[in-house]
Amino acid sequence: MIRRILTYPDPELKKKSAPVTVITDKTRELVRDMAETMYAAPGVGLAAPQIGVHQRVIVIDVSGKDEHPALIVAINPEIIHTAGETYEEEGCLSVPKYAANVRRHAEVVVRALNLEGDEVTWQADGLLAVAFQHEIDHLDGILFVDHLSPLKREIFRKKYRRIAEGLQESA
Ligand code: NI
Repeated sequence: MIRRILTYPDPELKKKSAPVTVITDKTRELVRDMAETMYAAPGVGLAAPQIGVHQRVIVIDVSGKDEHPALIVAINPEIIHTAGETYEEEGCLSVPKYAANVRRHAEVVVRALNLEGDEVTWQADGLLAVAFQHEIDHLDGILFVDHLSPLKREIFRKKYRRIAEGLQESA
């Protein structure tokens, strides 16, 4: 089922998510809904709190348009190693119609559980490394715009107020 994606400045997006203690049918249903919602948007990643569920679950698919879908499901994801630095443009389904460059680690190693409860490790660079950092941030109530400098964030707030008003008119 496609779920409604919460958008900035919804306070639910600022809350910290709790670890998943046991993987149940509810978890599997949550992941199915998250994947469906992400693909429908479309987006390359989605974190559970973006649909109002405060559990540490993320889905990512950075495969290109002409490639086979490659869904990553990460439960209780943790960044266990980082290297380098990158500064790429990011967007977010919870901050529609806005993009900005964000400083991130260029490479990350992420450890998580899959839906079977097995430990999985990803060694990621490029877009996947950025996506992992962006989605794991969501689990801690952090949006990509929180990484902007105070001046840039002020410009964002002003600009976004106008974008949000426009969204309300078209809704
Ligand atoms: Ni996001």
